[in-house]
Amino acid sequence: MNRIGIGYDIHRLVEGRRLVIGGVAIPYEKGLLGHSDADVLLHAISDAVLGALAHGDIGVYFPPDDDRYKDMASPVILRKALSIAADEGYRLINIDSVVIAQQPKLSHYYAQIIESIAGMTGLHSSSIGVKAKTNEGLDAVGKGEAIAAYAVVLMNQ
Ligand code: CDP
Ligand code: ZN
Repeated sequence: MNRIGIGYDIHRLVEGRRLVIGGVAIPYEKGLLGHSDADVLLHAISDAVLGALAHGDIGVYFPPDDDRYKDMASPVILRKALSIAADEGYRLINIDSVVIAQQPKLSHYYAQIIESIAGMTGLHSSSIGVKAKTNEGLDAVGKGEAIAAYAVVLMNQ
């Protein structure tokens, strides 16, 4: 059986933090605020995986107010979501995603981000879509105050 899932996330951009998207450190004057690496793209993908199985979201498994999970690295969260899926016999077929960032320009990093996600998921790079959009200067994302991400996944049992 096939199942699709959708995930969304947003984090504030602040000074004094590293910017990590899809497990790749991207040179920029600001980074995303949140526990651990605040990797907005991996969080959206992890939620999409759990969503495909109707398992809620990553906050159910890793409550942000629970100190045990406070600084859990995002790749660990994604792997945990995939292992929950594997326990039910589901494997990932493909991922598509959109990162909404006014800055920095991410297209130079697509290949690196895709390789990084391929390494975490076991997917071939041809099954991972990564795209970026600005928000045309509109709203908080458009003003460069935050970066958001959407992801969809297809899982098969
Ligand atoms: O042209 P359109 O309004 O559809 O899109 P845009 O938001 O102006 O972005 C144009 C292109 O810039 C995108 O298709 C991406 O290839 C690239 N882009 C990027 O590399 N990094 C971003 N943070 C945003 C957009
Ligand atoms: Zn997040």
